[in-house]
Amino acid sequence: MKLTIRKIVARKILDSRGRPTIEVDVHVDDGKNTAFGRAAAPSGASKGKLEVVDFPRGGVDEAVEKAKRIAPKLAGIDAFDQRQVDEALREIDGTPNLSELGGNTTVAISMAVAKAAASIKKVPLFRYLGGDEVCELPFPLGNVIGGGKHAGGYAPDFQEYLVVAVGARRFSEASFTNALVHKKVGEMFSEANSSFTRGKSDEGAWSPNICNEGALEFLARACEAISDEVGFAVRPALDVAASSFYDSESGVYNYRREAVTRDRGEHLDFILELIEKFKLFFVEDPLHEEDFEGFAELTKKVGNKCLICGDDIFVTNVKRIETGIRLKAGNAIIIKPNQIGTLTDAFKALELAKRNNYLPVISHRSGETTDETIAHLAVAWRCPMIKTGVVGGERIAKLNELIRIEEELGDRARMSGLR
Ligand code: PGA
Ligand code: ZN
Repeated sequence: MKLTIRKIVARKILDSRGRPTIEVDVHVDDGKNTAFGRAAAPSGASKGKLEVVDFPRGGVDEAVEKAKRIAPKLAGIDAFDQRQVDEALREIDGTPNLSELGGNTTVAISMAVAKAAASIKKVPLFRYLGGDEVCELPFPLGNVIGGGKHAGGYAPDFQEYLVVAVGARRFSEASFTNALVHKKVGEMFSEANSSFTRGKSDEGAWSPNICNEGALEFLARACEAISDEVGFAVRPALDVAASSFYDSESGVYNYRREAVTRDRGEHLDFILELIEKFKLFFVEDPLHEEDFEGFAELTKKVGNKCLICGDDIFVTNVKRIETGIRLKAGNAIIIKPNQIGTLTDAFKALELAKRNNYLPVISHRSGETTDETIAHLAVAWRCPMIKTGVVGGERIAKLNELIRIEEELGDRARMSGLR
């Protein structure tokens, strides 16, 4: 039976930074019943240069107007055929970087179509997309200390100091363990410095006045303390977001917090030293977004003990991933559906990466909404990790949805393998 898209309602809503973003409702009917799916798009602060364009020139208002007019153009398509829907969205846009409609407009429609289809079948999205067999939960990768473009003042240059409870046996246990680490680090900062305001950055991570390595020392100590408390391994991780402090003109990394610059070799050695010293489980964007060779060098040196993950360098884009595979750059990849603009394209990126032994990590953006779609994608697409923060309403929207999914899977639920 064919599923017809009858109407698209679009609106401007707030994201977690109070900025406008787009939410859409897609209304469908299968000849007998009607249903609708709703999805909202997030937005980044440290975007990769080669991501699709998020909004058309007129911003969210133009995106909203354009989204409302798309339904008749999709009416001939079977909405159960996600690939066809997504191809049509690309065709309607007509540009390679989705600048006409905006990648946030297309991704919101794409996700809402899938949710509407799941709704009419009366199954949760993860089952609709993943089938009846899916039963693996991802490990949550949570942001504990924020710096770089997500913070300000004297926060570190590195963007995210992360935690992953690698020894947890259940998703809920892993999430609560991350929350314990977040709380512990807050207490440690307060004890160490009475002027610490308990201020937080964009993703609900603490935002202290501290140097890059100093922040890692606190995080590593908190991971050890909580690991002893819960009785399983809890490991520190990092998103360097190196492009955000790389000066492409002079070719050096500008460590503002420490008032030093490091050339490529010095920067790479520093990252290597931190991986070894703090036994980091995962390091994202350790080098700037064009340095495939640097990624390859680091992967060769430490890839057997640390995940070297690409975000800005791959931008969920098959062509960029192909280059990475050829050069052996990294062994993990961030998947952000709005970096590429449709579910189908994000899935293609993920499958290519998986086939080539890259560990996929589905991810939120720093500017989020309470949309919970990526929680379902993590399970449907068998992502071993989900990066979606530790605290804050827009972050726990995904974590709590995964707790519900874990409950629904019951005895069948198990954690993904991380290696
Ligand atoms: P964003 O970055 O601010 O672009 O969402 C998050 C990240 O780098 O992982
Ligand atoms: Zn990143």
